[in-house]
Amino acid sequence: MKTVILLLLAYLLGSIPSGVWIGKLFFKKDIRLFGSGNSGTTNTFRVLGKQAGIVVLAMDILKGTLATSLPTLFHDTTINPLWFGVCAILGHTFPIFAGFKGGKAVATSAGMLLGYSPLFFIYSSAIFVLFLFLTSMVSLTSMISAVLITLSTMIVPLVFPAILPEQNWLLTIIAVCVSAFIFYRHRENIQRIAKGTESRVPFGLNSSK
Ligand code: G3P
Repeated sequence: MKTVILLLLAYLLGSIPSGVWIGKLFFKKDIRLFGSGNSGTTNTFRVLGKQAGIVVLAMDILKGTLATSLPTLFHDTTINPLWFGVCAILGHTFPIFAGFKGGKAVATSAGMLLGYSPLFFIYSSAIFVLFLFLTSMVSLTSMISAVLITLSTMIVPLVFPAILPEQNWLLTIIAVCVSAFIFYRHRENIQRIAKGTESRVPFGLNSSK
């Protein structure tokens, strides 16, 4: 029973629509009506600016981290903590507090990695920053990173055990599913990338500025 309540709590944590609430509270704007229409970090940066974007990024990451840490905080060893991260990702994407229309699963998935292994999170963030620098597109970077991080869950324990000491097949299976989900959530971005109309960020080699 305790586990079910904690899984529900993880979903509710993930459901906190940071971008939507910060937009409405401090800017009197619903970010879903502007930019890409997404409620996540990238659109917050785009519509509300850098400060709001950083706050929403931090909140969306922390939702995943806190959810993944719930079993440790409440001494529940029944199931793997990653499942709590998965519930937060589902909450972030289908938030009960925002009409079940949420983000694209990227920042909260990163938060789950942070809760699972801070070193692997840093490694994964480095991949993300590298590809953001090369492409200047958050959507493309998110998808490339999802694939590379999934492969890394298998390769890093063999090559760099200091970063991820144990081969965890549950992590790999979840990473495969989350990656597929991230691609699905980016289907409109994929069409824009193919047409050459995807928006770019003012960072990196193909910067918008
Ligand atoms: O994390 C979402 C990002 O990859 C794309 O966001 O607003 O450009 O569709 P957006």
